[in-house]
This record gives sequence, C-alpha cells and structure tokens, in this order.
Amino acid sequence: MASGHLSREEALACEGCRHACHVMLYCDTDARLFGRKPIKHVILMQMRFDGLLGFPGGFVDPQEETLEAGLTRELSEELGLALPISEEHHVEARYAPASPSSSSSSSSSSSSSSLILHFYVKKLTEEQIREVELAAVSTAADHGHEVLGMVRVPVYALKAGGGLGPFLSHAFIGNARSQLLDSMLRLNLVTPHELHRALAHALSGQA
Ligand code: GTP
Ligand code: MN
Ligand code: MN
Ligand code: MN
Ligand code: MN
Ligand code: MN
Repeated sequence: MASGHLSREEALACEGCRHACHVMLYCDTDARLFGRKPIKHVILMQMRFDGLLGFPGGFVDPQEETLEAGLTRELSEELGLALPISEEHHVEARYAPASPSSSSSSSSSSSSSSLILHFYVKKLTEEQIREVELAAVSTAADHGHEVLGMVRVPVYALKAGGGLGPFLSHAFIGNARSQLLDSMLRLNLVTPHELHRALAHALSGQA
C-alpha cells in the first residue's frame, strides 16, 4: 500500500509541486463516557468550512518557510495556538488523489501542478488538548470562517452500534479518513478487530 508515497526529502525535491501539511493531535485519557465506558483516547479533527471533516493544517510554500514552520503557522490560524511541530512528527507524504470534482476548491488557482499532502502526528497531554480546544473557539482567527469547530473522534464502539462506526460514515476531505484509520491502527488506539467492526457498521449504515 506504499504506492504514491514519498519521503519528506523526495517530496521537497519536487519542483513545481504544491504542498499541504496536516496533523493529527491526540492524547490518552482516563475519562469515561457515562461514567463507565472508557474513552481511552482523544483525537482532534475539525469540521471544515466545506462541511467535510479533516485535520488542522493547510497549504505551505517551502520557498517561504519550512514545512513544519508552515504547519505551525496554520495551527496558529486554525487553532489559535502555535503548537511546535518538527520533522520527527512527519508520518507520510503522498500525492493528492486526482480530484474529479475540484470545482469547489477555494482560493487556489486551478493550476494543475501536483499537490503533495504531508501528514504529521503529535501526541499531547490531555491538558494540552483542552487548551487547543479552548483556543480554537476563543482566539483562532479562522474560527467560524474556515473552521466551523473542532471535534473529538469517538475511538470506541457502543453496544448499540454507536461510536466510531457512525463517525466514519461522515464525509471527509481528501484522504483524511484513511489517515485517521491508518494512524489509529499504527498507534494501537484501536485493535484491528475493533476497527473492522466499526467499518462494517459504517458500511451497513450507508443507504
Ligand atoms: P486556505 O487558507 O483557504 O488556503 O486553506 P488551508 O491553507 O487551510 O488549506 P486546507 O487545510 O484546505 O488544505 C489544503 C488542501 O489539502 C485541501 O484543499 C485538501 O485537498 C487537502 N486537505 C485538507 N485537509 C486535509 C486532511 O485532513 N487530510 C488530507 N490528506 N488532505 C487534506
Ligand atoms: Mn488554514
Ligand atoms: Mn486548513
Ligand atoms: Mn492557508
Ligand atoms: Mn482561505
Ligand atoms: Mn486560510
């Protein structure tokens, strides 16, 4: 499944490519839902202006700033907090899937230069996650405009079927959904069995 993947260095060597960097911020938690169901992990995503779920981050021009400085700048705009991101948090780079319906893309001119999507993961403390959530509504310049709100991913399954399954049935930007799934598996935030069941539920829930 490594097709289309690039190292950070290979990606930066591409002349004329555009770059976008997004990050999954997460933490462990002892909190319980209804006082009994362990929540285990908090993963932050956002409801974007276009109604799609995605990770915080955005376009970065490596001629002007490093990828990580650009990602940190995007986080200041979208989360109201300049979380330092470094190369060690870089997980993957890949070409954006050719989008058949890019008619709704906003500011960027529809130049056909390839877009490379960089994905980062950073683990925070539960306290830091709360600070991010507070800043995202109180000081983030993009709140209410490009970002409609931060959301926590339910990383659990409820007996009646609720939780991760229905969450995965929402619409996601680009390959954010597989970035989420891959990361949850790689970091052992869910077991393959739990994920399989959630996916089965997500599929069966589709009309
Ligand atoms: P502007 O300030 O309006 O330019 O937006 P931005 O800089 O915040 O860019 P945005 O976050 O929309 O990301 C740029 C592009 O990256 C999008 O048009 C999508 O194609 C893609 N993208 C956005 N979010 C995600 C994500 O969570 N995962 C992946 N893989 N791609 C994303
Ligand atoms: Mn942005
Ligand atoms: Mn963005
Ligand atoms: Mn931007
Ligand atoms: Mn914009
Ligand atoms: Mn912007």
